[in-house]
Amino acid sequence: MCGIMGYVGHRNVVSMLVDGLRRLEYRGYDSAGIAYFEEGEIEVKRSVGKLSSLEEILPPLPPDSPSGIGHTRWATHGKPSEENAHPHRSGSLVLVHNGIIENYISLKKGLLEEGHEFVSDTDTEVVVHLIDSIYQRGGSLETAVKNALVQMHGSYAICVLSEKDPERMIAVRSGCPLVIGLGKDECFVASDIPAFLSHTREVVYLEDGEIALLSAKGLEVLDFKGARLSKESQKISWNPVMAEKGGYRHFLQKEIHEQPRAIVDTIRGRVAQEEGEVILGAAEINEAVVKRCKRVVLVGCGTSWHAALVGKFLLEEIAGLPVEVDIASEFRYRDPHLSSEDLVIGISQSGETADTLAAIREAKSKNTPTLSICNVVGSSISRETDTVFYTHAGPEISVASTKAFTTQLTALTLLAIHLGRRRAVLSKEKAQEMIHHLILLPKQIEEILRHEARIEDIAKRYFRYRDFLYLARGLLYPVALEGALKLKEISYIHAEGYPAGEMKHGPIALIDENMPVVILATKDKVYGKVISNVMEVKARGGMIISFAEEGDTDLASISDEIFFIPKVSPSLSPILMTIPLQMLAYHISVTRGTDVDQPRNLAKSVTVE
Ligand code: F6R
Repeated sequence: MCGIMGYVGHRNVVSMLVDGLRRLEYRGYDSAGIAYFEEGEIEVKRSVGKLSSLEEILPPLPPDSPSGIGHTRWATHGKPSEENAHPHRSGSLVLVHNGIIENYISLKKGLLEEGHEFVSDTDTEVVVHLIDSIYQRGGSLETAVKNALVQMHGSYAICVLSEKDPERMIAVRSGCPLVIGLGKDECFVASDIPAFLSHTREVVYLEDGEIALLSAKGLEVLDFKGARLSKESQKISWNPVMAEKGGYRHFLQKEIHEQPRAIVDTIRGRVAQEEGEVILGAAEINEAVVKRCKRVVLVGCGTSWHAALVGKFLLEEIAGLPVEVDIASEFRYRDPHLSSEDLVIGISQSGETADTLAAIREAKSKNTPTLSICNVVGSSISRETDTVFYTHAGPEISVASTKAFTTQLTALTLLAIHLGRRRAVLSKEKAQEMIHHLILLPKQIEEILRHEARIEDIAKRYFRYRDFLYLARGLLYPVALEGALKLKEISYIHAEGYPAGEMKHGPIALIDENMPVVILATKDKVYGKVISNVMEVKARGGMIISFAEEGDTDLASISDEIFFIPKVSPSLSPILMTIPLQMLAYHISVTRGTDVDQPRNLAKSVTVE
């Protein structure tokens, strides 16, 4: 976790850092700090809490500084406090770090024996002392960094600045994301692109095992042995406005409303409706892999795991493949049976989730083909899998995932159609029909979004309740899980998602007049059974908030509230049903006054186990 940012160039360093860190706050926000030069010396400012607390202690007229580094923290070692906030200092060096140094205790012991003194509980402070200890023996900072790296175990992205060389900074990547931005006479380094997106779109992705030397003159990249590497820069297509709130009150609301566009971008260039084909292009799966494939294993965490649960239904039904779904954090610990006849698909918005990455590595260690469904281009998971299917949802800033989920579902649908056709289990006509429905989807989502006021109205009536139950069956059951997760993470209301048929096996005991029960139902083969569940809830005094297809007068007549979604083919109902649930969670949270975009205790990309 944590966001790091560095800048070297001609602009005002303090404001560049603050601006960049604001866009990285989704990665952690329990403390923040920056380091910059003032009259030739490094000044460090740190503060507990969000970036706004740091801003209060910054000089009103920031000095001219040739370079600077900054950090926004999500605590791993040591509680959120000023001492534990980054940058950390030793001698003439300051350093920011994202990740975990696993052997920091033994390194610290050696440094203490050398006479180094520590003021924080962090593993990061050990790193800056280690580099400093080597640096003080003579030689360049670059050599000191290289020699320190070989002693460090763990995952990290770090950025170091020396008082002796204000025009240059060094950044290193090993297991945590780091991307360089190249401008005219300036260089940026950050954990994620939005940090510098309003200044440049020319980026270089650092790989694990690479050291970047940044100055206003440009970038040099070395491997850990010091050999120079030639790296190509890429122009990214995200525009700066995409990373801003665009007139919405919160990023979350903006990202909910971006879904029609995001889904168009996921589908764009990938469908040939007349031919009934889905073209994966760069995400094309090797012919031998498709031929050999006897089973798909889907892995992911949180919302991405919910997408995997929907993916199981889609791939089994449309592509005729047996599918298993695993929570990524459990996967490698159960020593899964994998072979070259499986295909492991990792689903991850950020492409940096440590558990999902580890699951992919587990699959690769067993020679199992891998594919990822990712949003962030150039992310670790996208680079480590054999093939990557980018969702192209654009930057998702709000901590709670919204457009990433619906674009993952869109990607899974496309993948299922593609595999169904290649395996000759899906007819051309059926594929044409499915593609037709996919293409209609963005308009149907727009239709749902137009009724946001109705959801706001429901939210205002139910925001005071302490527990919610979400019930659905089949394909919509994972959506019930996702609706409940959205509500609990941003409103702090306790919410559970359950397969409706399971209610009588336990959760029914919870139902009373203080329990709103959210029902998701379309007129499929289990519709009648869901209606019976609704009656069981009503008989015990529970309140029913239903989400159903337009024209469903039966459910309307027995519900306290009803919200209609347009009629849709069953395989796409999870996408449409998700939208009002996201809006419900959003409006309940806004009414309760919680921090919607940065809920407590959470961070956007979970790069630690
Ligand atoms: C919930 C949420 C998380 C993420 C999970 C996986 O709203 O955002 O549950 O879905 O941390 O993240 P990615 O998809 O980046 O691997």
